[in-house]
Amino acid sequence: MKATRVYLLLHVLLSAGVLVHSFEPVTTTLFGLGLGLAAVGGPIYHYLHESCSPRWIHFNPRGLQADLEAKLFGQHIASRIILKAVTGFMVNDNPKSPLVLSLHGTTGTGKNFVSKMIADNMYKEGMKSSFVHMFTAELHFPHPSRIETYKAQLQQWIKGNVTNCARSMFVFDEMDKMPPGLIDSIKPYLEYYESLDGVSYRKAIFIFLSNAGGESITQTALDFWKAGRNRETLKLRDLEEALSLSVFNNQNSGLWHTSLIDKNLVDIFVPFLPLEYRHVAQCVMAEMKARNLPANKAVADKVASDMVYSSKTERIFSPKGCKTIASKLNLYT
Ligand SMILES: Nc1ncnc2c1ncn2[C@@H]1O[C@H](COP(=O)(O)OP(=O)(O)OP(=O)(O)O)[C@@H](O)[C@H]1O
Ligand SMILES: [Mg+2]
Repeated sequence: MKATRVYLLLHVLLSAGVLVHSFEPVTTTLFGLGLGLAAVGGPIYHYLHESCSPRWIHFNPRGLQADLEAKLFGQHIASRIILKAVTGFMVNDNPKSPLVLSLHGTTGTGKNFVSKMIADNMYKEGMKSSFVHMFTAELHFPHPSRIETYKAQLQQWIKGNVTNCARSMFVFDEMDKMPPGLIDSIKPYLEYYESLDGVSYRKAIFIFLSNAGGESITQTALDFWKAGRNRETLKLRDLEEALSLSVFNNQNSGLWHTSLIDKNLVDIFVPFLPLEYRHVAQCVMAEMKARNLPANKAVADKVASDMVYSSKTERIFSPKGCKTIASKLNLYT
């Protein structure tokens, strides 16, 4: 479809060029052809190759909402906040500072999954976009002793990429494994400056992912459950304070005593709740659908009930969330 359209465009333009010059000497024709090609070459290049333009970067709030509602289970707080925060930020053509989200929760609760949803609804190429940058502590910053080098590299990398495209997204995975202090080096970019050395960072998005604070979230969810209260009535404010404190005071949170928190540069701490049996079963059903397998509730229940539930949390929460579902399902189908 794409290729056909480009071909047609080329064809029309070229034939117009050739027609105009058909009675001229050959050199003029070639010259015209060259000009024609140069004129269409740029747009065609940008049509086919990702560029920092609305054709490739276009936020779809409805798509994000639909994805969150249909595919993310058991995260009513995260789902609502993320939709609001990202949409509010993206519809504002002149934001005062970049969007900084810090997603927290135990393993397999959907932090990477949501980051992918955001990218998918913002960049045509999703996570593969050359404007989405993912940093993983163990891959990119493995040696704590090299922190000074990492700091300089990280700053250069962010500056270079935002210069190239203001609507860049940076995801820092496994924040809790980042060398303490590293993340402070990006502080200037998160501030409310209009521009730094001629570069404005205000349209960029920074997302931090970590397990830090996961235990405090689980404890609150457990208390709620014990009190017989409905999980869906849990509010951000029930979790936020304990979460930001536990992240700030956790030496291994990647945000330990960082000025990012001190200076309120993180816009929102987003809690991801521990997943219950019923959510895990939903994940299994989703995985079946993704594999084009017929929906089988009995198998979904079996996979979910065979997960080892945490004894510490009275067998309510799945300690690995939905993480190992994909491989577990193979054993039952
Ligand atoms: N809340 C959820 N709703 C639906 N699917 C989920 C959810 N949480 C996790 N999953 C499924 O499990 C997979 C693994 O989850 P994900 O990688 O997002 O976990 P995570 O929170 O980043 O965990 P970790 O802290 O270990 O990195 C996802 O790709 C998705 O298929
Ligand atoms: Mg993850």
